[in-house]
Amino acid sequence: MPKKGRILSGHRPTGRLHLGHLEGTLRTWAALQDDYECFFEIADWHALTTAYEDTEPLRENIEQVAIDWLAAGLDPERSVLFVQSDVKEHAELHLLLSMVTPVSWLERCPTYKDQQQQLGEERTAGYGFLGYPVLQAADIIIYKADTVPIGEDQLPHLELTREIVRRFNHIYGPVFPEPQAKLSQFPVIPGTDGRKMSKSYGNTIDLNDSPEAIAEKIRKMFTDPEKIYQGDPGHPDKCPVFVYHNIYNKERTEHIKPSCQSGELGCVDCKAELIEHLLVALEPIMQRRTDLEADRSVVREVLAAGAESAREVAAQTMIKVRAAMKITPSRASGTY
Ligand code: TRP
Repeated sequence: MPKKGRILSGHRPTGRLHLGHLEGTLRTWAALQDDYECFFEIADWHALTTAYEDTEPLRENIEQVAIDWLAAGLDPERSVLFVQSDVKEHAELHLLLSMVTPVSWLERCPTYKDQQQQLGEERTAGYGFLGYPVLQAADIIIYKADTVPIGEDQLPHLELTREIVRRFNHIYGPVFPEPQAKLSQFPVIPGTDGRKMSKSYGNTIDLNDSPEAIAEKIRKMFTDPEKIYQGDPGHPDKCPVFVYHNIYNKERTEHIKPSCQSGELGCVDCKAELIEHLLVALEPIMQRRTDLEADRSVVREVLAAGAESAREVAAQTMIKVRAAMKITPSRASGTY
């Protein structure tokens, strides 16, 4: 079957993945695997741009991301799953792209300013952090990816990638395609307090939470703020629990909606029903997680094989890049 194109996307290995990643990102990626040639990258160098001092947890975080990806259905038979630092060609391309990238483009990037405000001047003062989008551009174009499934927060980085591609191609000739963003079709899932699910808000349901922990989080979850007593009429459209029913208990929403609105269905029962369905939906993922945790060799083999495949493609691109830039090896063999 001819594929529609080539995808690259990735995550930084910063802590555990949660239900927001599962619904918003991983399901999208898993669904694209049949139609596209897919490369999924664990961007450990990107994690270093701000967390450069605390490198101790890096290896474990990388493997945790890989476990979550495999458990959620990213399939190493169909996709290349790899760690950025295993493919040194990304660093070479990052360096070369940095020659044609004006610093002003990077300083103007909205994510740069946001992060500076959130993390403070000191942590974001590094040269590596300023170049974050250049490294991301290298990640994408070294595979000549034409499609990049990302969240809206990453759009400025993709725009910069496209600008860098245009400038590179203009100076050295047409080497790279301009990649397009592909936004997720899946719903944004709220956190347990009704805000966006995010580790920094402490409102996540994590893929490695126990069933008991998940049940407890749902029991404490925010509901419609106007429904205070059991018989009060509720407003499902303002209730984060109802968003979850829509995903995990779809067939029953036609019943739940009117019985919440009439006040007949109380939050305790409504949540108990959700817990049951949510745990059934997550069970296969958790089972795969447990199996992979028990035998890490599978995970390591997947990443090692992924690095091989990724490197082959990246090395081919670098041959073209060096030729376009007239960078030639000194060795008589003409190779590096
Ligand atoms: N910056 C992305 C994030 O924070 C991670 C990332 C690194 C990425 N390289 C990428 C995403 C290439 C898409 C394509 O999540």
